[in-house]
Order: sequence, then structure tokens, then C-alpha cells
Amino acid sequence: MIEVKAGGPVGEASADVLVVPVLGGRNWGPGADWVADQLGDYLTTYLDEIDFQGKAGSVASVPVRDRLDFKKVLLVGLGENPDEEQLRQGAGSAGKKVARDASIATTLHMVGDDSAAAVLEGLLLSQYRFDKYRTEKKPSKLEQITLLDLGDEAAAAAAHRAQIVAEAVNLARDLINEPPSAKPPSALVEMAHRVAGETGLDIRVYDPDHFEEEGFGGLIGVAAGSHEPAAMIVLRHDPPDPKGFIGLVGKGIVFDSGGLSLKPPAGMESMKTDMSGAAVVIATMQAVAALGLPVKVVGVTPVTENMPGGGAQRPGDVLTPRNGKTVEVLNTDAEGRLVLADGLSLVAEEEPDLIVDAATLTGACPVALGEKIAGLWGNTDEAIHKVEAAAKSAGEDVWHMPLPDFYRKNIDSDIADMKNTGPRYGGSINAALFLKEFVGDVPWAHLDIAGPARWPDDEHYQVKGGSGFGVRTLIRLVELAGE
Ligand code: BES
Ligand code: MN
Ligand code: ZN
Repeated sequence: MIEVKAGGPVGEASADVLVVPVLGGRNWGPGADWVADQLGDYLTTYLDEIDFQGKAGSVASVPVRDRLDFKKVLLVGLGENPDEEQLRQGAGSAGKKVARDASIATTLHMVGDDSAAAVLEGLLLSQYRFDKYRTEKKPSKLEQITLLDLGDEAAAAAAHRAQIVAEAVNLARDLINEPPSAKPPSALVEMAHRVAGETGLDIRVYDPDHFEEEGFGGLIGVAAGSHEPAAMIVLRHDPPDPKGFIGLVGKGIVFDSGGLSLKPPAGMESMKTDMSGAAVVIATMQAVAALGLPVKVVGVTPVTENMPGGGAQRPGDVLTPRNGKTVEVLNTDAEGRLVLADGLSLVAEEEPDLIVDAATLTGACPVALGEKIAGLWGNTDEAIHKVEAAAKSAGEDVWHMPLPDFYRKNIDSDIADMKNTGPRYGGSINAALFLKEFVGDVPWAHLDIAGPARWPDDEHYQVKGGSGFGVRTLIRLVELAGE
């Protein structure tokens, strides 16, 4: 774990690298003014040569040799008036450039108010690597971050939160990046047990022997084509005198082949990530417990593989998920909504104040919003606003999408209460309308993370691959519920 400590004025800092902010138009941020004083013309000439103006996303690495007592100084461009997320991203860009150094001292957190936790999140998240399967590993060498000009208490508080958040996001990233046969449902069950053991969460796992009596018809249907036993995992954070009660549900398809409605090869390439929602929920539960948040939270993850084995469900089959509504399965590749039907019904029975699900549900969602924005649906304005506010505050991009009743007939079935497909147009909305059938009257919001669950490129604190998108929003959601 990277050590975080408080430090004094920038003039007394000691570290391998000094990291300071520069605002748009080359306006020195805190600490950068000191660097500019020390280096004089050398700095401005160098920055002119490399044309560094302090634009958001730019980082200048200034060699200082014997001029200053650092190996280098990083000037982090933040643009005009950076908000907290732009600061987090700037810290992430800087973090990528110090992964080979042992220690940094920074003043980035002096931009804006109470920014230390966001800066630390950016720095910590940017150090992530998934090189377990490489013979040559290049782990981050960063060991120590000094937050200059900050009191011990403020630094400790920011470090506490940022470490827990980054650990949770990285847990989700690890689970998502893991190859499919290395993470059968049993492995996720084991992981959930480990998380519960370490954090004191209560855990209950339903195994396939009990699916019938529990009424998990959706999970039974999807799991039927796989040799791997499925599981319904329920994690519970139950503090005394809770300030609220939130239910979380995450789609846990450890590999989505499409089932008998088999996907074409290209469509299958990324389908090990189809358990991202479950990873996000398990990681959030870990953080909620570690932070000791004063809110009751139940995290439900239906986990299975979607395979076309001899026992697989057939297009035309009818399933009955836990709340008793019947579903005609016309496309076995629309499996996420089937397992979520059981998960949502289960948690809705406990009547939380709010249910939020996260799922890599539809390919149509990234078609609409691109790969870096999640779709957001909900059955009440308040539920939607709560998730929007949490996402905004956490620095994750979500976009509110419509859930019109006049599209409900898109999922009418000829023989059952509904079918699991609909027309191609509005595919993400049809899926959300399906989920809505399983939450009863409980306020509910749905995040379709099919795009951002995997980050398509390396940028700022993001690393190409499993992103853990949603963890920060859900942690913030629970924090806000406890305020
Ligand atoms: N897991 C997929 C959705 C997905 C696609 C996530 C691409 C990430 C990237 C989901 O189970 C699925 O296959 N959905 C179908 C639904 C359709 C059959 C109604 C889809 O989006 O094509
Ligand atoms: Mn599918
Ligand atoms: Zn899927």
C-alpha cells in the first residue's frame, strides 16, 4: 500500500519528484509559483520550447538536475477553473509519469477546497496494473505521497477515504480483467467470502440446490447451459441505527457466450467483463464496510455463466423469476435481465428506500452514449436525482434516459407476461422497462454500464480494461444517504 503523509511548505519538501499544478494560460498554481521563482528563465524557456501552457490533460516533466533537490518537477496542466474530477484526472496523468519513482511531494490538493481525497484517488488509481498473466511485470514503484502544506488530520482523513475507494475500484478492476475460466461463479463466491471475512459483512450464498424453492427462475434458466454451478450472493452491511437502507444489485455473468442465441466471435471477445456489475457491487460493499458508513446496505449478485450446453434453455422457453411474473425467453443472449429479475425481486422484498442496479446490460447503450458514459434509468425522479448527484460528486459520467410507459408493449409476449427481447431500436430502454417489472413499488435506478465498465484507452487515472466504473458513484450514494 502506498503511504500518504502530510508535509510542510513546498520550499522544504523532500521527495524524488515534486508535482505542482499549472492553470490555463500558464497561471502558476500553488507550489508552481515557488518552482518558477527558483528556476527563473530556465523554466519559462523550457516551457516555451515544449509549448506547455497548462492545458487540461497536459503534463510537463521538467528536468531540474542540480538546480533543485528533486529528480524532476512535474507541472500538471489543469486548464481554467478545474473541478474536482479535472483535478482527479490531472493527478492521474501525473501519477502515470511517476510510476517508476519511489516518492512524490505535491501541492495539487491546494487547488479547490477539500480536494486531497480526489487528488489521492487520481494518483492511486493511476498506479493500477493487471500483469498477473505477463512473464515480465512492471509494477508501480511509488511508495510514498506527501501532501504539502496540509495538517496531519486532514491528510489522514483524505488518505483513509482514498485508500479505501482505490482499493475497492482496483478489486473490481481485478475481477473484471480476470480471464473467464479463472473466475467461475465459485471463485466469485470465494472472493465474496473473503471480503466478508475481512470487513465484517454478513454473507449468504444460495446454491443451485435451493434455486427452485427460492424461486430463482431467471438464474435457473440462464445457468442451465453451463457446467459451472451458479450462485446468488447476498452481502449485508447492517450498522446499528442506520440512517437509511439501500439495495444494490449487480449483473454477474462471468462469461456471456449468448447461450443458444450464440454471439458471433467478435461479440464474445470482451464478454468476460459481463460480471462487471457484480464486481462493482462486491467492491462497493467492501468499501461501505471499511468506511463504516451509517447506512444499511444489501448487495445482491446473481452469478452464472451463459453457455450453450446440452441442457441450455431454448428460445421459446418460459421462466418464472422470483416475483412470479412469467417471461418468454426469445433470445438467450438477453440473459442479464433474466438473472437481474431474481436479484431485484429478492432485494425489493426487503423494501429498501432505494434500489440501484449496475449491469453491462445492452450493446445499444454504448451505441447511444459512447464508451465512457453510463445510461441511467429510474422509476422515480428522486431515485434518478440521487444517483445523478452521487455520480456527479464522484466524477463518473451518467446520463438520464427515458423510461416511457408507451414503450412497454415492446416487450409484450404472445404467451407470457413479457418477453425478454424487443425491437432493436431503443434496446437499452426495452431492457430497462423489463427490469422495472421486478422492483414493485420500491424506488429504483438502473445503471447500464455496458460502455464504461471497460475503459477503451489509457488516459488520466484510467487504465485500459476493466475500470470498476460505478464503484465510486455507489460509495458516494451510500455516503450521501448517511449524511
Ligand atoms: N452482455 C451483453 C451486452 C453487452 C454488449 C455488454 C456489448 C457490453 C458490450 C448482453 O447480455 C446482451 O447480449 N445483450 C443483447 C440484448 C439483445 C439480445 C436484446 C444485446 O445488447 O445485443
Ligand atoms: Mn447476452
Ligand atoms: Zn450479457
